Amino acid sequence: MSPSNRLTIRRPDDWHLHLRDGDMLATVIGDSARHFARAIVMPNLVPPVRTAKDALAYRRRIEAVIPEGSGFQPLMTLYLTEDSDPDDVTAAHRDGVAVAVKLYPAGATTNSDSGVRDLDRVRPVLEAMEKAGMPLLIHGEVTDPDIDIFDREAVFIERHLTRLMADHPGLKVVLEHCTTADAVGFVEAAGGRLGATITPHHLVINRNAIFQGGIRPHHYCLPIAKRERHRLALRRAAVSGNPAFFLGTDSAPHPIHAKEAACGCAGIYNAPTALATYAQVFAEEGALDRLEGFASLHGPAFYGLAPNAARLTLEAAPADAEPDRALADGGGLHVFTPPGGLSWRVAEAG
Ligand code: NCD
Ligand code: ZN
Ligand code: ZN
Repeated sequence: MSPSNRLTIRRPDDWHLHLRDGDMLATVIGDSARHFARAIVMPNLVPPVRTAKDALAYRRRIEAVIPEGSGFQPLMTLYLTEDSDPDDVTAAHRDGVAVAVKLYPAGATTNSDSGVRDLDRVRPVLEAMEKAGMPLLIHGEVTDPDIDIFDREAVFIERHLTRLMADHPGLKVVLEHCTTADAVGFVEAAGGRLGATITPHHLVINRNAIFQGGIRPHHYCLPIAKRERHRLALRRAAVSGNPAFFLGTDSAPHPIHAKEAACGCAGIYNAPTALATYAQVFAEEGALDRLEGFASLHGPAFYGLAPNAARLTLEAAPADAEPDRALADGGGLHVFTPPGGLSWRVAEAG
């Protein structure tokens, strides 16, 4: 096969993943462990993973269901609240219990009710993290009901992120699941200590996909997909080789019945197809030689970790749509596939 049809890269990591808990955790863990060596595990359980003790207990529950021999390593995060204790947070980092802290503006997304209402109230925690070199991961959307849902990320950057970066000049920050040209420009201008994850779905759908012939709940996630020009900006950023941009699937499982409802949940489950989707995007952009940086090198460099030694091979080959996953309670879990189908697949996961 010619090199443009087959690609071997260092094994990737997923720098933004929702694994949930209980039966759902047991159902989805294998899909991530098959392709990814490590993952940043989001803490938005109910109740959230707030303390070092919570994170340790959650890590043990995850470790209990990791498929044998996969070597998958969960990297834990703490959910920032206005009551978070700076000492507990930095001790979790020092002791290797949590690698980062996640900031959810209260009400911004799934399970964010315990999030932060007033950023001034978490200043002591952010100062302690800044000293400890512990990154802050941000769901960057404002929640003000008077702000249009499609503007929430851009307004968050303007009203909050700019000031947060200035007030904490040593703090490492990740703008999670960035979705706009505004975010791309802001990250590019920040010069290194601000990273950003980009999801597979935001590279292949724009906001029309949510309303294609009717309402499409399986294309609904937060931040919501934006206009085509934003999708194109994300594709340019992902393939640019800029180390500030790295892979984060935001794979976020919700049962089909919770998505296909009068008030459907936000979140797209893409763990099985994410890597193939990224490969397809990089191939379409003529940038396959940069996929390894985005998927396997930029993230570890940002977090100060070594890249994985194992390798994974991708190949161009039409792939069938992934079937829905069966849930323990008899329900199903829909797997995201790009609207035009998949033309790449993981050949050998190493
Ligand atoms: C995520 C979830 O379901 O936990 N949903 C989503 O639409 N992305 C939460 C999040 O990452 O904002
Ligand atoms: Zn989020
Ligand atoms: Zn997420």
